Amino acid sequence: MKIAVLPGDGIGPEIVAEAVKVLHALDLRFEMEEAPVGGAAYEAAGHPLPEATLELAKEADAVLFGAVGDWKYDTLERRLRPEQAILGLRKELGLFANFRPAICYAELTHASSLKPELVAGLDILIIRELTGDIYFGQPRGRRESPDGAFRGAQEAFDTMRYSKPEIERIAHVAFQAARKRGKKVTSVDKANVLETFQFWKDVVTEVHAQYPDVELEHMYVDNAAMQLVKAPKKFDVIVTGNMFGDILSDEAAMLTGSIGMLPSASLNADNRGLYEPSHGSAPDIAGQGVANPLATILSAAMMLRFSLNQAEAADRIESAVKSVLAQGLRTADIYSEGTRKVGTRDMGDAVVAA
Ligand code: NAI
Ligand code: MG
Repeated sequence: MKIAVLPGDGIGPEIVAEAVKVLHALDLRFEMEEAPVGGAAYEAAGHPLPEATLELAKEADAVLFGAVGDWKYDTLERRLRPEQAILGLRKELGLFANFRPAICYAELTHASSLKPELVAGLDILIIRELTGDIYFGQPRGRRESPDGAFRGAQEAFDTMRYSKPEIERIAHVAFQAARKRGKKVTSVDKANVLETFQFWKDVVTEVHAQYPDVELEHMYVDNAAMQLVKAPKKFDVIVTGNMFGDILSDEAAMLTGSIGMLPSASLNADNRGLYEPSHGSAPDIAGQGVANPLATILSAAMMLRFSLNQAEAADRIESAVKSVLAQGLRTADIYSEGTRKVGTRDMGDAVVAA
């Protein structure tokens, strides 16, 4: 099993080191190879996604990614900015399915901005389509408006589009994931207004015929935004397009109150994938040894489950994380009175010990 390790910028190297430590503590054999990405790669090689890093990511069975970005690169031209690395990896590896679980751990229910009873035991999975929709649809641009009430004025436009195979493959991913969980899929659309999402709804319904054991529910995105804060536990798996998924997955992340706890996976058609915490490079706390490594450690668990076929090892990591929380260990972002504050390294060591 070959893992490409791309730590990146800010807290990336600190948190990835802890996840690597946890992987080494399992009695499994991995080949791990590290490469620079993001701002670190721009400094070292003049490009945020150097050819050698991309080649390594392509030949590996999975990519363990930290985070990229720093305000100091804001003045660079767009193609050289750190964020281009993650967009490039998604595109080059064909990572069309983004998994973002939002789990509220018993010990951390107080961290949510919602009432504890609304989030206690929360365990939902958002599956966001990652390579289509209005974010990539052509044509797009600026022009002089050709018609309508503002004809002749400057205007900008993007194009929302999804092809049938794109919707089918993400629908299969969602139904298969739901089969292994609560057996319910909520497909989020805006079919009442958008032709693209009426088509989405039709195709998801068609694919559903192959999964009679899974319940399918359709919901408009505005209602979904409302239901997520009203009764989030009613959801199991949510599947949606790129833009709605971008927004709803951040909303769902906040239900748990702790960005430092949330892993993510981005998969392609052969279950290879890129695994990273949902948060960014946190330049405000980089180098201080205080970042929470658990989101990255839990991302490594997802990597074992989805790309490396080691579900048992993934379970062991996830129960070790629950165990350190039960022991009362907390990094600063999840600290509350009566618990024990620890740094990045001590948290990683505690997971290894557990
Ligand atoms: P951020 O997620 O890096 O930080 C937001 C807040 O959460 C900060 O106060 C930070 O200290 C805290 N935080 C984040 N992760 C934490 C952890 N593991 N432990 C404790 N506290 C944590 O988002 P922000 O500040 O908007 O962006 C910072 C940089 O990260 C930017 O350059 C941005 O472009 C980049 N970014 C990169 C992503 C990626 O690599 N996939 C995703 C999101 C942002
Ligand atoms: Mg986002």
